[in-house]
This record gives sequence, C-alpha cells and structure tokens, in this order.
Amino acid sequence: MSGVEVCKVSDVPWPGALAVDIDGVAVAIVRDEEGEIHAIRDICSHADVALSEGEVDGCFIECWLHGSRFDLRTGQPTGPPAVSPIHIYQVDVEGSGDAAVVLVDLVPR
Ligand code: FES
Repeated sequence: MSGVEVCKVSDVPWPGALAVDIDGVAVAIVRDEEGEIHAIRDICSHADVALSEGEVDGCFIECWLHGSRFDLRTGQPTGPPAVSPIHIYQVDVEGSGDAAVVLVDLVPR
C-alpha cells in the first residue's frame, strides 16, 4: 500500500482515537476494542464536529454531539440524526512492537 506514516500504533488509545492532520485533511486514527486500527475522516457527516472526541464501542465510533454511531469498517451510520456515511481510508500497520507505525492512504475506499 502507498501511504504516509502518521503515528506510532502505541500513540493510539485502545480503544479510542487519535486526531492527526494529513496534508490539511483531518483524520482520526481509531483503534477498536479488538485492537484493529482504522482511519476515518475526522468530521461527523451530520455537522462539523470531530469524531475523534467521541467514544469507541466495539467497532463503532459514537459522535459526542448527537449520538450517531458509525461503523469503522464501512463508514455507515447506524442511526439518526446522521444519514450519510463518513469517509474511511485505507490503513496499514508496518513493523511490530513499539516500532509499529500507522500508514494511511488518503484515497477514499
Ligand atoms: S454532529 Fe454528529 S450526530 Fe450530530
């Protein structure tokens, strides 16, 4: 995968999210409860707020403002008020242990 290195895996809470900026694009690197790393656009599809400030539950992230939840694997909302999906990006982990890093390709999947 071609992508840019954005952080160490150990920088990402488990479960939780880390806000990063990739060439001016707000991206949230999210680790779900299983430890899987995801990369999503860090803007809710309902209003202009950061999803990285929400809660991670299973493989979903919940928007802190109105409570819509988004599937980290597909970007689809599971309920209102959001009706549109969020962008998700191709993500890869390179290396292992403390040296493992997260790579993100900004071309939306
Ligand atoms: S701003 Fe996210 S659900 Fe309303």
